Amino acid sequence: MPPSSKHQLVQNIFDRIATRYDLLNRVISFHFDTFWRKRAVRALRLTSQNPVVLDLGSGTGDLALAAATEFQQGMIVGLDFSHAMLRLALKKKKNARSDNRIFFILGSALDPPFRAESFDAVVTAFVLRNITDLSLFFHHAHRLLRPGGKLVSLDMFPPSRFPFSLFYSCYFYRLVPWIGALLARDRGAYQYLSDSVRTFHPPETVAELIRETGFQEVRIEKFLSGAVCLHLGEKPGASR
Ligand SMILES: C[S@@+](CC[C@H](N)C(=O)[O-])C[C@H]1O[C@@H](n2cnc3c(N)ncnc32)[C@H](O)[C@@H]1O
Repeated sequence: MPPSSKHQLVQNIFDRIATRYDLLNRVISFHFDTFWRKRAVRALRLTSQNPVVLDLGSGTGDLALAAATEFQQGMIVGLDFSHAMLRLALKKKKNARSDNRIFFILGSALDPPFRAESFDAVVTAFVLRNITDLSLFFHHAHRLLRPGGKLVSLDMFPPSRFPFSLFYSCYFYRLVPWIGALLARDRGAYQYLSDSVRTFHPPETVAELIRETGFQEVRIEKFLSGAVCLHLGEKPGASR
């Protein structure tokens, strides 16, 4: 599929499923998604007292909100190209105590509207599989970070270890599209989600891409036999 078609397909899917997105996340992951997001923001281990954090593909805002809870001061900026997802993020932000420290912006992660070296950290969750050009995505993450800035990405991958991989393929590749049909009335969107995991790169390939972009100290933390992974990296240079 040409990149521009995938870009539109992804935008269209998230616009369609936005109102059911959070519910389906909780159901499909048995509520583990909230735990993994917390792990992701904790893994940043930022030293700045007032960190400026960018959440690429912020969706309905769960990762940005988790970051605002983790960092008692500083600013969180969420960027997403789906209007419908951002509308929900704005609603959730209004109900959060950290309202005045979180900002959501409509835009593409492949053309982010920010100046170089504006952020102490870039975080992203469940976004990589939707990206048409991963090298460009990591290039921007790198460009936007200050020297010493941190990157953390949370995502799903095809698990490698038997017997968990067998259970996973029955659940995630066969059952999840039907859960999507039942609860979100959109089997197509959840078939896409399931296919996007089944056909995604191994976590080691993604780590290599991150390294090639110029990050150092790149490492992977695996959960559930690698079905969920955190990728961590650092932009070379002195931290603030
Ligand atoms: C699976 S959702 C993840 C949302 C959120 N990060 C979370 O943890 O729930 C993927 C999000 O990435 C956004 N997205 C995908 N590709 C994008 C791109 N190129 N630029 C901006 N947002 C993008 C989608 O609109 C969607 O909201």
